[in-house]
Amino acid sequence: MDTPAAGATTPTPPTSGDAALGSPRDAVSLTRGVPASDGAGVRLLRVLGTQVLPLVDPFLMLDEFRSDDAKDYIAGFPDHPHRGFETVTIMLAGRMQHRDSVGNTGDLGPGSVQWMTAGRGIIHSEMPKQQDGLMWGFQLWVNLPAKDKMTAPRYQDIEADAIPTVTRAGDVEVRVIAGTVDGVRGPIDAAATEPVLLDVRLPASSRFDHRLPTGHNGFVYAYEGDVVVAGTSSDRVVPRGHIAVLGPGDGLRLRADGAAAKALVVCGRPIGEPVARYGPFVMNTNAELEQAFRDYRSGKLGR
Ligand code: CO
Repeated sequence: MDTPAAGATTPTPPTSGDAALGSPRDAVSLTRGVPASDGAGVRLLRVLGTQVLPLVDPFLMLDEFRSDDAKDYIAGFPDHPHRGFETVTIMLAGRMQHRDSVGNTGDLGPGSVQWMTAGRGIIHSEMPKQQDGLMWGFQLWVNLPAKDKMTAPRYQDIEADAIPTVTRAGDVEVRVIAGTVDGVRGPIDAAATEPVLLDVRLPASSRFDHRLPTGHNGFVYAYEGDVVVAGTSSDRVVPRGHIAVLGPGDGLRLRADGAAAKALVVCGRPIGEPVARYGPFVMNTNAELEQAFRDYRSGKLGR
């Protein structure tokens, strides 16, 4: 950075990160996750996909599971179907095993990500591969447009070391799961919604500026510490366990003020179609939902 001119009384000019930032988005809502139970009785925090916050198009659901008490997770998610969207599992700690009806098996270890396109249908299970210790991670549901809802199922299993980390000044670390940061591209290929999915780790008194696609919807979920969404017209503190939906704009500025913080940044191109959802199926119409149930009951789904 240049030395400020002698005698300057105005604040120093923006740092290099600002040049690319544009107008940082404000946090337009702040919602606390709701304790819930899913699968065969896994306790989790439902952050998105609740009555209060049902949808941030194209994102349908975000759950955080975090417990070091095995009875909160040991029952896992036995065989169940999906149709019409994509599920993303992001592991921070612990180990799960995936099996599905199209023959994929996957070992999801700490730091790994699994991106599953259910498309026309898949039956899968996600079961803990540990009897004790910390299990911590997220599951995100990403909708598909009508033209892709009945596509062939696809499974992308990404090991922890295949997810690049960008380190910024001040030891800010960004794991790039999807999208591009400083020219570094994440491994996920999801053409329908062109998602940006970042795991941002902010030391105390640090900042992360990043350009986001202008037409994308997005949110920030604070999963450790308090993250500040420093927007164009407001600064908003997002405490741990809360989700902040981002307003319009073309950039994002996150800060950790007093203490270190970690957040997921999730952003995607909205689909803008009707959403008919029930349990594990997400379609456009109720008739398509009923067809999904019929196909599942008659054994046609996932075969
Ligand atoms: Co599932």
